[in-house]
Amino acid sequence: MFEFKGLTRRFGDKTAVDNVTFDIPAGQMVGVIGRSGAGKSTLLRMINRLADPTSGTISFGGRTVSTLRGAELRRWQRDCAMIFQQFNLVPRLDVLTNVLLGRLNHRSTVTSILNLFTREERIMAIAALERLGIEQSALQAAGTLSGGQQQRVAIARALMQEPKVLLADEPIASLDPLNAKIVMDALRDINEREGITVITNLHTLDTARAYCQRIIGMAQGRVVFDGTPDQLTSEAVSEIYGADQSAIDESMTSTAISKPNANAVAAGERPLRPLVLAGV
Ligand SMILES: Nc1ncnc2c1ncn2[C@@H]1O[C@H](COP(=O)(O)OP(=O)(O)OP(=O)(O)O)[C@@H](O)[C@H]1O
Ligand SMILES: [Mg+2]
Repeated sequence: MFEFKGLTRRFGDKTAVDNVTFDIPAGQMVGVIGRSGAGKSTLLRMINRLADPTSGTISFGGRTVSTLRGAELRRWQRDCAMIFQQFNLVPRLDVLTNVLLGRLNHRSTVTSILNLFTREERIMAIAALERLGIEQSALQAAGTLSGGQQQRVAIARALMQEPKVLLADEPIASLDPLNAKIVMDALRDINEREGITVITNLHTLDTARAYCQRIIGMAQGRVVFDGTPDQLTSEAVSEIYGADQSAIDESMTSTAISKPNANAVAAGERPLRPLVLAGV
């Protein structure tokens, strides 16, 4: 369970996140929406401590994560995986190595990373790639993959951390609708199968409605909506997005695929498959 209390982050005069207080039960899938500059990324970055709060606290399972230091902070960052709009892979390294890099935080030192992954870790990495349907690209340089494939590699890398929480900052903003659906389906699958708490920033309302049990709407650093998709009425949407009507055009969507083959996967790629990570 997450508890956010009075969480605030200022940059000079600008208050990016303004006195945010809410709880997130373990295992929830939460979508954070809001206009550009509303504070969504700053909120997410404070959770895994890429940014520090100016004031307020974040705790998880009774542990105050907003003040952790040293080894405890590294342990938290291992528990808290993050994926990004631009994937953040190492483009010249092959896919398998990129996925294995998700194990780095499980190691006491960062020495000789490329040759010292164990056989078990390699099996785990291939299993993670299989789960995302991209194991055939394991030996390809990550930078040569399509955006959708790269985001799946990033998710496989996140799984290697064996996280308790998965943070995703606009994970589908650079993807076409079909790949967006594949990536969102993967996040939902991880949430449902492993019970991992997923918190994702999204810029399309229909995606948040379709995938998230709970939606948090931010405006100017504050939480102005917190409820289920059903509770997100057009009034609530107007409060979140204000006069920015372009943002509330729900037909401008990322994951709503209107073609008849909505559930098909890209040619030559296999759909998600279940995987048991434990014990490998
Ligand atoms: N490192 C920084 N230095 C100065 N200002 C920052 C920094 N990071 C964020 N901000 C400011 O804080 C506010 C919130 O930014 P944030 O990136 O969290 O918004 P966002 O909701 O993620 O927007 P977007 O939808 O465009 O990604 C913005 O006004 C932004 O300019
Ligand atoms: Mg952002």
